[in-house]
Amino acid sequence: MEQSTAKQEPSLLRRDATPDSAAAIPGALLPAARQYELAPPRRDRERILPPGAGGPHAAPYRMLRSQVTTRLDKLDANTLAMLSPLSAAGKTLTAINLAIAIAAERDRTAILVDFDLRNPSVHQRFGFEPKLGVEDCLTSSRPVHEAIVRIAGYERLLLLPARNRVENSSELLAESRTHDLIEELRRLGAKPVLIFDLPPVLQADDALLFSRHVQCGLMVVRENSTRREELTRAIELLHDLPLLGTVLNASREPRTTAY
Ligand SMILES: Nc1ncnc2c1ncn2[C@@H]1O[C@H](COP(=O)(O)OP(=O)(O)O)[C@@H](O)[C@H]1O
Ligand SMILES: [Mg+2]
Repeated sequence: MEQSTAKQEPSLLRRDATPDSAAAIPGALLPAARQYELAPPRRDRERILPPGAGGPHAAPYRMLRSQVTTRLDKLDANTLAMLSPLSAAGKTLTAINLAIAIAAERDRTAILVDFDLRNPSVHQRFGFEPKLGVEDCLTSSRPVHEAIVRIAGYERLLLLPARNRVENSSELLAESRTHDLIEELRRLGAKPVLIFDLPPVLQADDALLFSRHVQCGLMVVRENSTRREELTRAIELLHDLPLLGTVLNASREPRTTAY
């Protein structure tokens, strides 16, 4: 794991919007969820924000959170695909810390779903072994609330982890069962925001096929690593999905570029 103190600075762009809405059932299913502990040394090693999204690394993520929730509210949207051209951009870490920062807003619930079924890693970052994964909900119709977990101390944050790599994951993500699962999740908690971690856009067709189920996307790129042609190609591939913006991860100089 990298130990740099690099910061993360979002820059946002906006395309057109597809409004949608879902009724919230406050608190539904939350008490039933399995709960895991996250020890502070592990949390800090993994660069995961503490509950309430405080601490020395929180400011860029809080800024990103506020930009994202403002855009989502304007679009009347609550489903967000985490995207990156290639791996190691920081997509999973950004998804986790964005979810924690959203849950720090007291009137919202953040639900992070690990749909990177080629390389599930959300549970590894938090250091637990899921009993059930989201892939079980999709392939053997296990109820979604049995797979949802919480992390002790993190109010209003729900995780839907994946346990195993899945063959043909892109076809699974394209199925109508995936759509139904998302609709189920959209009824959880107060003002839920659903964040979906996914495989890299240019390495598999998962993100492309899954994009039909979400209202918008957020592109994570890594400074000095993601090439401009890769970013352009990823954005072109997903041209039908409104992009909330591009997160420039690990930048030495914070900067915002509107385009
Ligand atoms: N801003 C950052 N500063 C330091 N390390 C980071 C940063 N963003 C990501 N990392 C680390 O880089 C590695 C790849 O990040 P990850 O979130 O797994 O990328 P992806 O999901 O895009 O493959 C992880 O070990 C993660 O902890
Ligand atoms: Mg990842």
